[in-house]
Amino acid sequence: MSGDERQRKIARVGVVGAGTMGAAIAQHFIMKGLPTVLVDSQTASLERGVAGIRQSLVEAVQRRVLTPEAKDAAEARLTATTSLDALGSADLVVEAVFENLDVKANLFRALEAVVPATCILATNTSSFSVSRLASGLRDPKRLVGVHYFYHAAKNKLVEIIPGDATALAVVQTLREFYALIDKSPIVVRDAPGFAVNRFFVPWLNEAARLFEEGVASTEVIDRVAAATFGIGMGPFALMNATGVPIALHSAANLAEAYGAFYAPAAALKRQVEKGEPWVIAAGGGKDDEGTVRERLLAAALGVAAQVVSEDVTDATSVDLGARVGLRWAKGPFEMINALGAREAQRIVARLFEKWSMPVPPLLLEAARAGAVRIEQVRAWSDGPWGYLELNRPDSMNALNEAVVTQLAEGLSRLERDPAVKTIILKGQGKAFVAGADIKFFLDNIAANDLDRIYKFTEAGQRLLSRLGTSPKRTIAYIDGLALGGGLELALSCRYRVATERAVLGFPETGIGIYPGLGGTQRTPRVTSKGIAKFLIATGQMLDVKAATEFGLIDAVVAREGGLEALKALDLDALGGPAAGKHGQPEEAFATFDGRLDPAAFANPVFKKYEKQLTRKAPLALAKAMELVDRGEALALDEALLLEMQALKWIFATQDAKTGLESVLTRAKPIYVGA
Ligand SMILES: NC(=O)c1ccc[n+]([C@@H]2O[C@H](COP(=O)([O-])OP(=O)(O)OC[C@H]3O[C@@H](n4cnc5c(N)ncnc54)[C@H](O)[C@@H]3O)[C@@H](O)[C@H]2O)c1
Repeated sequence: MSGDERQRKIARVGVVGAGTMGAAIAQHFIMKGLPTVLVDSQTASLERGVAGIRQSLVEAVQRRVLTPEAKDAAEARLTATTSLDALGSADLVVEAVFENLDVKANLFRALEAVVPATCILATNTSSFSVSRLASGLRDPKRLVGVHYFYHAAKNKLVEIIPGDATALAVVQTLREFYALIDKSPIVVRDAPGFAVNRFFVPWLNEAARLFEEGVASTEVIDRVAAATFGIGMGPFALMNATGVPIALHSAANLAEAYGAFYAPAAALKRQVEKGEPWVIAAGGGKDDEGTVRERLLAAALGVAAQVVSEDVTDATSVDLGARVGLRWAKGPFEMINALGAREAQRIVARLFEKWSMPVPPLLLEAARAGAVRIEQVRAWSDGPWGYLELNRPDSMNALNEAVVTQLAEGLSRLERDPAVKTIILKGQGKAFVAGADIKFFLDNIAANDLDRIYKFTEAGQRLLSRLGTSPKRTIAYIDGLALGGGLELALSCRYRVATERAVLGFPETGIGIYPGLGGTQRTPRVTSKGIAKFLIATGQMLDVKAATEFGLIDAVVAREGGLEALKALDLDALGGPAAGKHGQPEEAFATFDGRLDPAAFANPVFKKYEKQLTRKAPLALAKAMELVDRGEALALDEALLLEMQALKWIFATQDAKTGLESVLTRAKPIYVGA
């Protein structure tokens, strides 16, 4: 099999270069269960790399991120060697050696002689063209860029960079592979700086320019930047942490490709010549905070708009890159929309004019249209299979207005495609969908705009009803959390297929509200009245085994096999009413009305869940139980309407506010029953 055929799954990996990046990349692989060979040509570097990995694992145990057994198992997966020969059975080798073209090119030639023909070769270069590195290979189709971000074991962002020759199957395999090991991959064109450094480095550089021009002190620039971008460290502190020379080097590289605006500021050059970190202190400037804010925004947003205008990647990937890779509170395009596209155009024009750069076409278009479109849902098809993928892994794919709108649009598109027979709903990252956007609810409660919450819920209900009655078969693929609105979304699909890490639950009554997207009505229809009440009243989190027993899940597939395993299922043989009896909770909860007088706990089943039940908001609990009871005799449509009718009432309660706030503050809510 050659690189352009579908690659088999990646089970064995190699990393070459045991320095800062390579060791951390290997650490991540072994923590994710992959047998990993780490190679370095220098024994001393190899030993340093391995010691660093061991130390990080010990710290992970101390922080309780890892059990001692998991640490031992991870360590046992690591083979450290100075010989490339150990890579003879690798499915993927990531190169993280010195940033030197000849060193890398020679290494790849040597690797080709050792690894199997099916092995994917990847480079973690930050500045060389992937196409250029591939040109010396016998099989250039197998080479691809995988650009990690510091700290590579912890930072989830990976830019996947196909070169001119890279096989599509290689990109697809890596995309699935990185998602499976809990990274957030984005696919980026082979352009200098790729996507994220392309706007991050000019942002650092603009900070140095502001300082050099006396606009503000380093201290003020860092403070304004932290506040504007929602980050812990400003540009100067960041440069000190990762190395000031790297910023200079990266800026110089970008300038070669893109011109004077990108060229290193004189202050940055001087600082590197001094060989010292920045002094972050007050003084030495006018402290014009408005200009600092505007110029930093203009540099980041303007270049991000260039990136998308030049088709390096899409706006959604840029935003994800900024949030996940740089830990900005919002991505550049979310910031453009928050600022107003016209205002963004104005400030970018003001900065870019000085450098004779045009305002990027995307920004001009956004200013005309009013906003940049950010895809929060990806919809695509592949023969008879249609896909709707929620694209916000760092927000656990929480439902919001845009997600609901885009799911509905994607559904329409796939329904119109006659080739599509089945539509699979899935989430990116660790969640299918972990509920709805709590902040949206709180903001609208604060603004006294319960209508907006009602309209959002109504649109959600419409979407879910469409998923349930679509002429296409709809399947929720639950690989992770399906909570609250996410579980309701899954329940509206014709089938639910889960992986071993699925977790299902209704936390609503614990946060002052009830499931309002059909949860009180579809759940009893999928399982039984008693089980529906049990789940909604206790908020019990179900693993895949329990969820299957209750009839919430139709089939289980292993994560590793993923979507392929799902597609191989005989769907028509699945589903149907939940089989069997569910025992005690079903009987005990079938007649539960939500009232928790002390007598209720005489029943041993209620006693068992006493702690959970007494933590619930009493109004929400009673209303949810009432809705299940009253909906029982109704047709589903009418039952869903009934559920909507109490929505504004519940969101107007003090307990809803208290409960929703408790999610953000993580404080224990105290309910007053009003
Ligand atoms: N440091 C970062 O933040 C960062 C971020 C993204 C990408 N990168 C890229 O990752 C790569 C590695 O960077 P680093 O910071 O880890 O470098 P580093 O200098 O810390 O480590 C490089 C290691 O490679 C080893 N090495 C060199 N030539 C070798 C060869 N032919 N065979 C085997 N081992 C060899 C060296 O002994 C050294 O241990 C570079 O291409 C860099 O541009 C770095």
